[in-house]
Amino acid sequence: MAKILVTGGTGYIGSHTVVELLKSNHEVVIADNLINSSIDVLDGIEKICGKRPDFVKIDLADSKAARDLFSTHKDLDAVIHFAALKAVGESVNHPLKYYRNNIFSLINVIEGITKQGISHLIFSSSCTVYGLPDRLPVTESTPVKSANSPYGNTKQIAEEILSESCSVNKNINCISLRYFNPVGAHESALIGELPLGVPNNLLPFITQTAAGLREQLSVFGDDYDTPDGTGVRDYIHVVDLAHAHMAALDRLIAQNNDTNYEVYNVGTGNGHSVMEVIQSFEKVSGVELSYKKVARREGDIAAIYADTSFAEQKLGWKAKLNLDAMTSSAWKWEQSLRSKKG
Ligand code: NAD
Ligand code: WQD
Repeated sequence: MAKILVTGGTGYIGSHTVVELLKSNHEVVIADNLINSSIDVLDGIEKICGKRPDFVKIDLADSKAARDLFSTHKDLDAVIHFAALKAVGESVNHPLKYYRNNIFSLINVIEGITKQGISHLIFSSSCTVYGLPDRLPVTESTPVKSANSPYGNTKQIAEEILSESCSVNKNINCISLRYFNPVGAHESALIGELPLGVPNNLLPFITQTAAGLREQLSVFGDDYDTPDGTGVRDYIHVVDLAHAHMAALDRLIAQNNDTNYEVYNVGTGNGHSVMEVIQSFEKVSGVELSYKKVARREGDIAAIYADTSFAEQKLGWKAKLNLDAMTSSAWKWEQSLRSKKG
């Protein structure tokens, strides 16, 4: 059993990972400023696990507050750093907000673990670092392309900061996980994604449309060079993604890592088009979705999906849940949200 600090642990991916950590009998401290999550998430976690994680409300971009956090939690074995702002469009209009939040938080976390002698760190990176790839599927050695948003740039800069910090400080062992498109929710429907306002991402937009909150889904582009002309992504069930963090943590704790900075793609390895996601959703929900094909969304790429063989080989992890499991759990979560809100 280890004691793990989970930053951003009341958020979407963080909360699902906290559930898996508690299920494996780890002790968890969540640090979150609740800027994009709700304290009620702790109730959902407790209902699933029968245990409530410790919670500290803190802005990790505030260096003094972060120093205090690390000095009052000296006995941590590892940190999983999810906390970040993630809205691509907002980051274009408010770049400094994104650089300040995402980069300052990371620096404060690295300084905290260095000072307290905590050696294990897992960082949430993104497939966005690949930009528009020349070849598919993307491997971890596919070149990082110039970012097309400040948000994407924060992930590239963060990876550089981590790689450089690890190269001068061999006491830190870090794994960056490059997530592809996380979707779905816990099978209990007690935790899930809570988008603020109008969702930017495909699956929450689909479930909100089916639930009657949105009039119609716009399918952005049907003239891409893909089998059905719509955009192709590597959707990964959030519970599979949570398990990838467990595998990364085990690798670090067992000191099985080959180098003190490793990077892994975390996807399923399968590309699905927007139309395939809609068809899966309609099949599992029995709801006919209102949608319309419109022009491409600016900044979108035609297709991206992962080569996941490195994670399979080194982490012993592979995604298990298919697209129908993703869309059905997302729908169950949306329905549970609506039944709570009446
Ligand atoms: P989320 O917004 O649901 O969770 C992030 C959490 O961090 C929230 O609870 C928020 O309140 C908290 N937070 C943000 N800034 C903070 C700060 N300064 N101090 C303390 N807490 C702060 O997002 P998510 O989807 O769970 O994403 C988690 C991580 O994974 C992020 O780093 C994100 O960039 C990355 N990521 C997400 C996706 C995705 O599509 N969801 C894809 C790739 C990478
Ligand atoms: C998926 C597909 C859209 C909405 C984003 C971030 C990326 C990463 C994951 C954090 C695309 C289409 C979408 C809609 C649509 N996040 N779509 N109608 O853009 O692949 O990635 O989340 O790191 O950085 O950019 O995800 O869910 O927005 O789009 O047709 O209303 O669905 O064009 O093909 P994306 P998405």
